Amino acid sequence: MNLTELNLELSGLSPREIVKRALNEHEYLAVSFSGAEDVVLVDMLSKLTDSPKVFTLDTGRLHPQTYAFIERVRNHYNIDIDVFYPQAEAVQTLVRDKGLFSFYQDGHEECCGIRKIEPLRRALSSLDAWITGQRRDQSPSTRSEVPQVQLDSSFKGRDEALYKYNPLANWSSKEVWDYIRLMEIPYNDLHQQGFVSIGCEPCTRPVLPGQHEREGRWWWEESTQKECGLHAGNLSAPSV
Ligand code: ADX
Ligand code: SF4
Repeated sequence: MNLTELNLELSGLSPREIVKRALNEHEYLAVSFSGAEDVVLVDMLSKLTDSPKVFTLDTGRLHPQTYAFIERVRNHYNIDIDVFYPQAEAVQTLVRDKGLFSFYQDGHEECCGIRKIEPLRRALSSLDAWITGQRRDQSPSTRSEVPQVQLDSSFKGRDEALYKYNPLANWSSKEVWDYIRLMEIPYNDLHQQGFVSIGCEPCTRPVLPGQHEREGRWWWEESTQKECGLHAGNLSAPSV
């Protein structure tokens, strides 16, 4: 089955069914957990298999609430969470040369490259497929075309080809929160303080009523193209 046909099939399925389908399809598959609303994917995966693979990227700049939440999720589901850290030397060089807040002057690409992208490349290199919490409603300018499954054009897996599943692509923020409440699963305390989209502490702020969630991320930068490189493919033509 080609990707277009597969997407057509998956678009009629619920997120849980998409996760199940991905699980049946790929032996080396993991959820990429950011420590925010995408906990729903951890919930779904851990109810579908006894050995769920979950990883997270610890940039070293997360909020204390996010660290506490990651630990709560680990205990709640009694699962291992693989935490990937940046290369110490690269961080030291960046901080020595440019200080701890260079992203406010230089833009976030360099710091994200060291603290997120390189560790993600390592995390993905042992996988056939990864599952993300990307949704179309998260960013009208960069995520409105996110498909349920795509071939990742930015990273390589175990055998070169790497599948990327976005089971929540069709879900709205409300559907995610209905699920969190209905299933009574843990969530990041920052959501109670006006944070919607949560990334690193210096680069995330709460949004006001009516503001779009991406406005709370890298707010000092051009507002239309906010991607840090984890999902760089969103900035080019969608690879469906
Ligand atoms: S970002 O690219 O702008 O940072 P966003 O915060 O919207 O991404 O999250 C989208 C998805 O990317 C998450 O649901 C998760 O799958 C993945 N992701 C983002 N940040 C991390 C992280 N620190 N660790 C692991 N996965 C992450
Ligand atoms: Fe660095 Fe900010 Fe990117 Fe985090 S989000 S890796 S602190 S630039």
